Amino acid sequence: MTRPVVLIAEQLSPAGLALLEPDFEIRHVDGADRGALLAAVADADALIVRSATTVDAPVFAAAPRLRVVARAGVGLDNVDVEAATRAGVMVVNAPTSNIVTAAEHAIALLLATARNVPQAHSSLKRGEWRRAAYTGVELQDKTLGVLGLGRIGVLVAQRLAAFGMQVIAYDPYVQAAQAAQFGARLVPLDELLRASDFITVHLPKTPETLGLLGDRELRLVKPSVRIVNAARGGIIDEDALDLALKEGRVAGAGLDVFGTEPCTDSPLFQHDNLVVTPHLGASTHEAQEKAGTQVARSVRLALAGEFVPDA
Ligand code: MLT
Repeated sequence: MTRPVVLIAEQLSPAGLALLEPDFEIRHVDGADRGALLAAVADADALIVRSATTVDAPVFAAAPRLRVVARAGVGLDNVDVEAATRAGVMVVNAPTSNIVTAAEHAIALLLATARNVPQAHSSLKRGEWRRAAYTGVELQDKTLGVLGLGRIGVLVAQRLAAFGMQVIAYDPYVQAAQAAQFGARLVPLDELLRASDFITVHLPKTPETLGLLGDRELRLVKPSVRIVNAARGGIIDEDALDLALKEGRVAGAGLDVFGTEPCTDSPLFQHDNLVVTPHLGASTHEAQEKAGTQVARSVRLALAGEFVPDA
């Protein structure tokens, strides 16, 4: 008897694979290779992706057997959920698998921008000993502006409050009392931009949030501000950030995500006060194991025609 085909388009943890291998035929494809993906989904019953694979209407049209798309992570912005619904395909994700990991990475970037860690590291490895050049700033008693007080934003707020930061937050979907429970004072966006010494972005990518921090907004911030985005590329307008860094209107930035990924070349990279990582927000062994096993369990249930509970 032929076994249902589970097509894996990005890296899946060994623990996730082990849950699928006994009962399904596992096939691999590079989800970023559009032609290969469209060919490979033709026989797939399930498709597992992370953030680098676009799963849209043409994918569903090419996949007559597809019953479930599983996103091994939080965001669903690379999956067209409406097209999936029209095609009768279930979409599942692992919404809590990497929230701690993502929060910790945002904090790592924030500390790196505060203390010039990557710049000083590269300089020392080049044989230089430049202590004055890499003088940084403290977090204590500074104002942290959290954009988006969802699961990850809350974890960042709670952790950075322990550094002695005053936390303010902007989130149109959260009530002031809820924010207060997490030690954050809710403020309008412009007030957050004007008051923050550090800004960290924890919003999903939606038509509402795309370009939320553009030229106008980046002209409201303190010139000493350091801005971190480990959420989604495009929420900070990259041209506007480039200009703000060039003109000294922003003291530093830490980016894990980009408007177009992979991003290996950008005008932004010329700025010494910009710290970058290649979308590593969800990349820890712990988070990948959780994401892999959660989606593998959901795929098993979906292919068995059973109810798939929220992970
Ligand atoms: C997520 O949304 O969970 C991450 O971006 C997943 C990933 O790293 O691919």
